[in-house]
Amino acid sequence: MDTRTIRSSLIILFIIVSCSGPHSNRDSIREISLAGPDTSLKSSTLPVPPLLRDLSQDKKRAQYELVVQRGSTEFFSGTSAATYGYNGNILGPTLRAKRGQEVIIRVRNRLREYTTVHWHGMLVPGNMDGGPHQVIPPDGEWRVRFRVSQPAATLWYHPHGLGTTAVQVYRGLAGLFIIDDSISDRLPIPSEYGKNDIPLIIQDRRFSSDGVPLYLTGMRDIMEGMKGETILVNGVIKPFLRVSATRYRFRILNGSNARVFDFKLSTGGTFYQIAADSGFLHRPHLTRSIRLSPGERAEILVDFSSFKEGDTLRLVSDYFTILEMRVGAKSSDPTSIPATLAPRASLPLSAVRRTRVFHLEGMGHMVSINRKQMDINRIDEYVKKGDTEIWTITSSTRGMMGMGMMRGTGGIVHNFHAHGIHFLILDRNGTPAGPGEQGWKDTVLLDEGERVRVITRFLYRGIFMYHCHILEHEDNGMMGQFKVD
Ligand code: C2O
Ligand code: CU
Ligand code: CU
Repeated sequence: MDTRTIRSSLIILFIIVSCSGPHSNRDSIREISLAGPDTSLKSSTLPVPPLLRDLSQDKKRAQYELVVQRGSTEFFSGTSAATYGYNGNILGPTLRAKRGQEVIIRVRNRLREYTTVHWHGMLVPGNMDGGPHQVIPPDGEWRVRFRVSQPAATLWYHPHGLGTTAVQVYRGLAGLFIIDDSISDRLPIPSEYGKNDIPLIIQDRRFSSDGVPLYLTGMRDIMEGMKGETILVNGVIKPFLRVSATRYRFRILNGSNARVFDFKLSTGGTFYQIAADSGFLHRPHLTRSIRLSPGERAEILVDFSSFKEGDTLRLVSDYFTILEMRVGAKSSDPTSIPATLAPRASLPLSAVRRTRVFHLEGMGHMVSINRKQMDINRIDEYVKKGDTEIWTITSSTRGMMGMGMMRGTGGIVHNFHAHGIHFLILDRNGTPAGPGEQGWKDTVLLDEGERVRVITRFLYRGIFMYHCHILEHEDNGMMGQFKVD
């Protein structure tokens, strides 16, 4: 048997096994749990990624230095694991720039393998995007220069090498990139970074019994993408945050490889969503939950003022505790929630020049977009700078064998992310986008069989990726390239 035949046999075996029980999905997650002494683990204070020092003397510019390096991290005390980080052992510092500023970044690669640094959500020319074409060899360096020309948002950066994105992100490479503008500067919402404006990089990992992260240990990981049973927030397990009984803003990034989170408060209470991936919503959206797939971000406001000193709340998702919040004393709170946050984002339907369809399909190694797998020497779509288009995205996990065998496997979803553009969701299965999806987006989740239409405009020239942000799917070829001329 060649490897393809073996692979197909394994896939079929997997389907049989995973369809054999009504709750097979949950049960097998428990079964394969190899987590270390998670329950006995003491919680630790939530670390906040430091703001990277801006080396520029000139207000018109922000100048940063990033070193991609090897390090080690003690996820469980007493055992250290090999990790990767930017300027440190794991994750990276937060970069920050203002709309209109020029950003200069020197990236040095001190790994023993090549990497790239992609600015996820940043509108930049193709050659500054950090996708698979901007390879930085070991000991190499990449000089980045672009002007920020987009609204305030919480973006992020991560590696994007061809076939190596998933494993390098899993090793620890990810950081935030915050954009400010004159609108965000004037909002009365919490905005003291690390004090009442708290970034949360949320990821899941699987640990061996001796506390070392494990990668791709089972068939399910290959089919669905790598999901772990232990949650990391800003790189640590079981964190807690002391909050005063005031309003807080959380900038949430789902930085996991494959897991979709449904964030809720343990009280079942409400909170406001104020931003989607690439910018503020027009109005704060009162909700009890937020669903984020890998790569997506949301900003939320949580008001602790009705809680007593000593109360504890948790941010949860399914059966996971993400973050414990310990309420302290009341203090005066100068912040408020404005009726409107930013102008309503819109693009004129009348300007639409054409429509394209992107069909996401398959699982495991059989993933594809429009029945094709990534070929770095092939451009899949040619578009014109300045044009407005509608992109229709559809998703199916069953298509690979054309027999609808995938029903009941549950855990496989796809999402769609594109570089170099922002988009607005027109509708989902014919129904207008929900209030939490009405701002600028760059990544959108699709459930099995869903159809999402987005409108976008191309502002920068170059070659850009579109792909599923389930990182194992991306690395298995669920990616294509569009060229803007
Ligand atoms: Cu977050 Cu193409 O990436
Ligand atoms: Cu991206
Ligand atoms: Cu996918």
